[in-house]
Amino acid sequence: MTKPLEGIKIIDFTHVQAGPACTQLLAWFGADVIKVERPGSGDVTRSQLRDIPDADALYFTMLNSNKKSLTLDTKKPEGKEVLEKLIRESDVLVENFGPGALDRMGFSWERLNELNPKMIVASVKGFSDGHHYDDLKVYENVAQCAGGAASTTGFWDGPPTISAAALGDSNTGMHLAIGILTALLGRDKTGKGQKVAVSMQDSVLNLCRVKLRDQQRLERVGYLEEYPQYPHGEFGDVVPRGGNAGGGGQPGWVLKCKGWETDSNAYIYFTIQGHAWEPICKALGKTEWIDDPAYKTAEARQPHIFEIFKTIEAWLADKTKFEAVDILRKFDIPCAPVLTMKELANDPSLRASGTIVEVPHKKRGSYLTVGSPIKFSDMKPEVTASPLLGEHTDEVLAGLGYSNQEIFNLREVKAV
Ligand code: COA
Repeated sequence: MTKPLEGIKIIDFTHVQAGPACTQLLAWFGADVIKVERPGSGDVTRSQLRDIPDADALYFTMLNSNKKSLTLDTKKPEGKEVLEKLIRESDVLVENFGPGALDRMGFSWERLNELNPKMIVASVKGFSDGHHYDDLKVYENVAQCAGGAASTTGFWDGPPTISAAALGDSNTGMHLAIGILTALLGRDKTGKGQKVAVSMQDSVLNLCRVKLRDQQRLERVGYLEEYPQYPHGEFGDVVPRGGNAGGGGQPGWVLKCKGWETDSNAYIYFTIQGHAWEPICKALGKTEWIDDPAYKTAEARQPHIFEIFKTIEAWLADKTKFEAVDILRKFDIPCAPVLTMKELANDPSLRASGTIVEVPHKKRGSYLTVGSPIKFSDMKPEVTASPLLGEHTDEVLAGLGYSNQEIFNLREVKAV
């Protein structure tokens, strides 16, 4: 099956998570992704949090599938020469080095554009160019704090909180992938490459859009009616942390189910969607609430929403999270069990859809990873193993026209 990105050659100069998540996605969709890594060590995640001695860590294998690995010391003149050759015949270069690292290596945007005016140069940085923090190196949690996620996540009586979801890393990588695909389409029209830049702060903030909405509402009216602080608590002048409250017009909360005393994930998320009030009352056996003025409208319910949640928890007390959802789904109530990683890993639906996949690996045996969350009618992205360090060095160099002797010489000077 021909994949849409077949024929697109990508120099993957990325490391850790934000950049690799982007190039992995493009590799699934058919791009020829060549990961350029420092000889001897490679991407730092190969050895981070190892669970099997001497085998690439899951952190690496789960973010670098479907790629080739070329070891290259791009600070050595011989390595620079190889990189220049590669640049001349590639469509995209993706990097997420610390600020200025690519320039220091001698590959500024101007130089790259001179070497290959058709090539797209895509970068992830912590902050955007010209930002007063644009010299900072940034990791996931730093970005969550800088992008507004931390100040708005968690409980009002606790500290700012980090989400487990990689809002700063993989999310930024996904933004970059959209930018690269857009620039490729643009190149079809203009014949020119361009620079695509995404900052982690901006990508986090983009996902915190509704919190910026709330800041403006708060400044205008002084309260936020869907937050647990309303109407009994106090509002200051910044968007508060709302615990597990629903983010829009649908109040919701994480509610205890049977077994919560011993199982820390025996919960469901329950949403009180306005127009579903009648089915909710029927599901709970509280038909008297349907027309009761104290319950009938969202406005009437909000002052005692936690008392309503308590009643629902009493109903849930003899039901597991799965039993509860099986009942509630019949009433069209938006809800879900709180699922653990163990449950997700073994979920037959996720296995069948290719969202959780088992990938054979030369050194590890097989490992689980998250496959493409994007599904196509004409293509099923296949996930193949991440490359061993330098696994494709000879192949890539031969493809660039290097003879066996020349490859030997490059090894001798430790350029590859
Ligand atoms: N050959 C030779 N040198 C190489 C190389 C190669 N193949 N690959 C990388 N290097 C060098 C770089 O040129 C740089 O050298 P310099 O600082 O002497 O100029 C050096 O390795 C370190 O690069 P850097 O990216 O700054 O690594 P770091 O470990 O100090 O910082 C981050 C890591 C992630 C904090 C930093 O890269 C960063 O802020 N990136 C942008 C934001 C980002 O993507 N964050 C991570 C999200 S998961």
